[in-house]
Amino acid sequence: ISKEVSIMRKAHEFACEYFHHLLLHTEEGENALNYLEERGFSKELIEKYKIGWSLPNWDALTTLLERKGMDLQEIEKTGLIIRKENELKYFDRFRERIMFPVSDESGNVIAFSGRILTKNENEAKYLNSPESPIFQKSQVLYNLDKARLDIRKQRNVVVFEGFLDVIAASKAGITNGVATMGTALTSQHITKLNRLTSNVTLCYDGDKAGMEAAKRAATSLQAQNIQTEVAIIPDAMDPDDYIKNFGEDAFRTKIIEKPHSFLSFMMIVSKRDKNFNNENDTLQYIQEILEILSERNSSVERDLYIRQLSQETNVSEEAIYQHLRKIQGNIA
Ligand code: CTP
Ligand code: MN
Ligand code: MN
Ligand code: MN
Ligand code: MN
Repeated sequence: ISKEVSIMRKAHEFACEYFHHLLLHTEEGENALNYLEERGFSKELIEKYKIGWSLPNWDALTTLLERKGMDLQEIEKTGLIIRKENELKYFDRFRERIMFPVSDESGNVIAFSGRILTKNENEAKYLNSPESPIFQKSQVLYNLDKARLDIRKQRNVVVFEGFLDVIAASKAGITNGVATMGTALTSQHITKLNRLTSNVTLCYDGDKAGMEAAKRAATSLQAQNIQTEVAIIPDAMDPDDYIKNFGEDAFRTKIIEKPHSFLSFMMIVSKRDKNFNNENDTLQYIQEILEILSERNSSVERDLYIRQLSQETNVSEEAIYQHLRKIQGNIA
């Protein structure tokens, strides 16, 4: 590795230890530690994921890095510190936030995400490191370093929407979980996963945004020939909320171990805002599902889902088949 990268890594390693120490062993970290414990993060979990806390001061970390004689100009390129306008002075990007280190596949800390302690309208809930020579959001999957072996062994990876869900799921024994860093699942992410397994379980938040994101992720996964299933969290909760409300066993046995096929997931989502006593809703539902089905070439699958569609909507299988042929005719 280049000298540049080595300096960047060293600064992140140091910052990670520093934030972690502030959270666990100082008075300034107490509020954050209480918050985390209330949210169900044990000391063990905090240690495992090296969670930390950043001080409210403008330059607490910068001062320490400088005192260690580290090259601030290089470190600035990672966004960990920010240069003041028209001055050769720097200040900390992350202040007064719960710090979650992000590692590359080999376990080197390459970025942070900082969560605000109490939500407010003026500041984003999460502040992330910017793109840098050591951090490319479209490539990095949170927890891949720790999960990689288990993904191989279990021949499956669970992809979550939020990194906090990865941590919460680990309490339920789900050790093959990863998350994107607040971005969509890219083809580079998928290529990375595909080297380890060709089976993905998506477990996104149960709210509308999460379900829409899961649709897009599932579509990209299938385009790269990955067997995709979707675990659905009820009532707009996310995995972390669900575990808090119903416990770790329920999460494992009722959610993760009972995923839906892509098509049945699409049917469930599409059905949510529809009323089959309404003709337009019924038509729209059939149209949406047939559009997906028309791109499949398994006749068994077609038969199965058309029967289900017919039962749900009270439209005859024959009429649905006819409509499918019409859609296929339009595509061809
Ligand atoms: N995210 C982000 N910036 C935000 C909000 C979200 O980068 N302002 C990203 C984070 O990577 C986060 C993911 O989107 O992990 C999912 O967001 P959300 O569901 O809002 O976060 P939760 O994990 O549910 O966080 P919490 O439970 O603390 O609210
Ligand atoms: Mn420690
Ligand atoms: Mn969400
Ligand atoms: Mn969430
Ligand atoms: Mn959450």
